[in-house]
Amino acid sequence: MCGIFGYVGEEREIGSEVLEALRTLEYRGYDSWGVAVGVDGRIGVEKRTGKIAGAHVDFPPSPIAFGHTRWATHGGVTHANAHPHLDCDGRLAVIHNGIVENFRPLRDSLLARGHRFVSETDSEVIAHLLEDALPQADGDLAAALSAVVGRLEGLNAVIAMDVRSGTLAAAKNVSPLVVGEGNRGASIASDGLALQGHADRVLYLEDHHLVRLSPDGITLYDRRSMSELSADFAPLVLQSGETGLGAFPHFMAKEMAEQPDVLERLVRDATGQIEDLAAAIRDSYGAFLVGCGTASYAALTGAYLFSRIAARHVNFTVGSEFKYHEHFLTDSSLVIALSQSGETVDIIEAMLAARRRGARLGALVNVPRSTLDRMVDLRVHLGAGPEQCVLSTKAYTAKVAVLLMTAHALAGSPEKGKEEVLAAAAGLQEMLSDAWVAQVREVARRIHREEHLFVIGRGLAFPTALEAALKIKEVSYIHAEGFAGGELKHGVIALVAPGTPCVVYAPSDETRADILSGAMELKSRGGYMIGVGPEPDPVFDVHLPTPDVGDAAPLVNALPAQMLGYHAALLRGNDPDKPRNLAKSVTVK
Ligand code: BG6
Repeated sequence: MCGIFGYVGEEREIGSEVLEALRTLEYRGYDSWGVAVGVDGRIGVEKRTGKIAGAHVDFPPSPIAFGHTRWATHGGVTHANAHPHLDCDGRLAVIHNGIVENFRPLRDSLLARGHRFVSETDSEVIAHLLEDALPQADGDLAAALSAVVGRLEGLNAVIAMDVRSGTLAAAKNVSPLVVGEGNRGASIASDGLALQGHADRVLYLEDHHLVRLSPDGITLYDRRSMSELSADFAPLVLQSGETGLGAFPHFMAKEMAEQPDVLERLVRDATGQIEDLAAAIRDSYGAFLVGCGTASYAALTGAYLFSRIAARHVNFTVGSEFKYHEHFLTDSSLVIALSQSGETVDIIEAMLAARRRGARLGALVNVPRSTLDRMVDLRVHLGAGPEQCVLSTKAYTAKVAVLLMTAHALAGSPEKGKEEVLAAAAGLQEMLSDAWVAQVREVARRIHREEHLFVIGRGLAFPTALEAALKIKEVSYIHAEGFAGGELKHGVIALVAPGTPCVVYAPSDETRADILSGAMELKSRGGYMIGVGPEPDPVFDVHLPTPDVGDAAPLVNALPAQMLGYHAALLRGNDPDKPRNLAKSVTVK
């Protein structure tokens, strides 16, 4: 997901400060970047493909600048396609997050009017539309942007720069933008994290807002009528928690190690929100859990937990598929989104669809004040602290813990839920010992050159098997697939060749006997059996022990896969924090 940062205020070395701000947004995933600075009435531009890393930009002090990290959607990863994009005369510049779904007809009509394009992107049409709209708005950039964004289809966030008036203007449709006011000027970004040091009070833009940042200050408008609105700024609230690496080599290692503390904090701090969520589920007729990627497997785990603990049917749907299920939603429905970032576009769209049907909206979300956090009726804040590895680890475990405690709250046994989560936290702490990690590292050494790896689980361990496979594949690039243990005979077993690594989740519950017989089938075809669970078994070639924590097993069963994937990635020379092609949160479809 693209990163955006802009500034208007006192003249300063703003070019390098923009680059610093973009660095705080690197976790969002990107493949090129660019900075634009107003210099003597012109727009100075520096843009490159690749990571910011040790790059620096060299601009004279300036009162206006913005920057962008691009995750390619339309047009390859090239210098020309990196943002910002300029109009034909170089007076206007635009940076953009999202997709202009109707960019082809817009581009065709602009070309017919003589505009010259230098990129393959959808974003560049915005700069040329502004070029045409500005004269009609008597040179007022905000009014021109209002006219332009009204013609864009899709989910977008746009910032435009007019170097002649020294003004920025911005508007959004679902994609996030937050405006900051500080003692040296005004700033704007796609994430409050980038406003640190620039603003102490912020305003999260809503879809009907349009904002102007000029030497005269910040002006907020209703985007359609362009009537001025009062801007209610509030103190900038960032996620608590250290954002540095500390003594860890990677954020993934740090965030895996933080999981016990995250669970203990949830037990201490989330009781009220969990009780409210349980009551909302109780009062609903039809509750749904939706999530994307890792969050979807936390949601599916929740469906099993609500059944086992509270005998309650809670539906599960992948976020991107939810809108195709919306037809049976009613105003008695409750849709609960699970999202670490609170910005995943498929989740936001699912919630907009649910709202259109009158459903009540809930969320399990890690980033306070994110788009999702601000659009729902009730939420549970995961409180996991910044999760900066692109892969989700601690946020996943936090979501499952919240669902476990919510299921117990629904069943009238809230204290048991807390006890189970605390037992899982203690179990995780033991697993993080050097000796246990060394065992996992040995297995990673055995499997890291493999092309395929299978994971099987039953019952509560089935969604864990799916999450385990996702973790391993997205960080090590080994083609890992998770399956329900009972599905082996329906095709999967055809894939197992001698030596194929197979992870088997064998908890000490009602699934153990059946999953072990599935393991025998795999072993008899030459599979290399990696058992994960409280007890060893002769069918395992290697056993990674986990504590026996009953229904809290999903809380301890993710770590073996997280750690296995992490060490396999290192052995393959991958960057575990920024796997290829992945973004921390996908805010474009
Ligand atoms: C992916 C991330 O882009 O989005 C995953 O790489 C994450 O780690 C998924 O699980 C969903 O993100 P979120 O923020 O909605 O939980």
